[in-house]
Amino acid sequence: MRLTRVVCRNFRSLAAVDFAPVPGVNVVCGRNAQGKTSLLEAVVYAATTRSHRTQTDTELARHGEEEFHVRLEAGAETAAAPVVVEANWWRGAKRFKVNGIPQGRLSDLLGRVKVVLFCPDDLALVKGAASVRRKLLDMELSQLSPPYLFALQQYRQALRQRNELLRRGEPEGALLDVWDVQLITHGRALMEARAAYIAELSELAAEMYRRIAEAEPLAVAYLPDVRTPDELAQTLARGRASDVRQRLTGRGPHRDDLELLVAGRPARTYGSQGQQRSAVLALKLAEVELVRRRAGTLPTLMLDEVLAELDADRARSLFAAIPEGTQSLVTTTQTAEPLRGMGVDFAVFRMEGGCLGQE
Ligand SMILES: Nc1ncnc2c1ncn2[C@@H]1O[C@H](COP(=O)(O)OP(=O)(O)O)[C@@H](O)[C@H]1O
Ligand SMILES: [Mg+2]
Repeated sequence: MRLTRVVCRNFRSLAAVDFAPVPGVNVVCGRNAQGKTSLLEAVVYAATTRSHRTQTDTELARHGEEEFHVRLEAGAETAAAPVVVEANWWRGAKRFKVNGIPQGRLSDLLGRVKVVLFCPDDLALVKGAASVRRKLLDMELSQLSPPYLFALQQYRQALRQRNELLRRGEPEGALLDVWDVQLITHGRALMEARAAYIAELSELAAEMYRRIAEAEPLAVAYLPDVRTPDELAQTLARGRASDVRQRLTGRGPHRDDLELLVAGRPARTYGSQGQQRSAVLALKLAEVELVRRRAGTLPTLMLDEVLAELDADRARSLFAAIPEGTQSLVTTTQTAEPLRGMGVDFAVFRMEGGCLGQE
């Protein structure tokens, strides 16, 4: 699948953009603060119902406006019908449509247009809190697997209810039992899916890292809070007294983490800045390949400000490592020069003051 058209109205500084990306590499050039990231953000928003930069949708409406609109048109590589996703926000209410039909549930929408984004903030995947990594994992798996999204929503709801009981103090054991059953059932599903996904991701990321960076091996390790799904029930039972004291559910998949290892050592503590960047990039490229394998279609890859930090050789290796046939949107404050002579098909667009033009 690839994006054929992106229309934005009043999305951040983008008053009116009508963007027709090409199948290959789309380079969006422009000075700082011209709206390049906003364009990628609009795509992320319509594809996943959330911005990657903010939780507060009000920020996304152009200053002085009460509504914004994003429309994505995606065409399939095969004969399957194209998909149109529309996001409409009006005074705090957001509505999504797929092919003109209003969507009530996130699960009906996620994954209709698949995207993988790399942005400078993604370095937090190495250095930041576990919650950043869990969010990535949940977002990827939710796009790929409706049963995963279901388990995640059920788990979160049970966790919220259990924590609410605990917070009020002196909870009834039988009530906690009810939520424990939910946490065990759905927690198991989450853990199994995460373990399988990370094992596959690790293998692919190692291969990508080898192509774009140094020779030392990269691995991704799953660090579940509870060692195995079989131990979930026991861990909850054993932790109950402490949960009651702390008024919070202490253990479970909501505390899971994952770790990037370069040459067997945590990239967080031992990796150089360059290694950390390459590790995250490799992770993103691996995701592209994983989506292709699992969903049978390539996602659109978005690379925000990736060229600035790469020398010509590294840039060449990066573009060579992107799975063949992937559509990409690449922003840069520089020129598209590094792409010349690389044998990739690309088109150059210019973003200026929230207006997009083709060069
Ligand atoms: N809601 C909004 N309305 C209007 N302008 C905004 C809004 N949110 C952010 N901006 C402005 O949009 C500009 C472009 O931001 P951005 O897309 O990050 O640019 P770039 O990626 O090209 O550096 C910034 O100057 C920012 O102040
Ligand atoms: Mg930017």
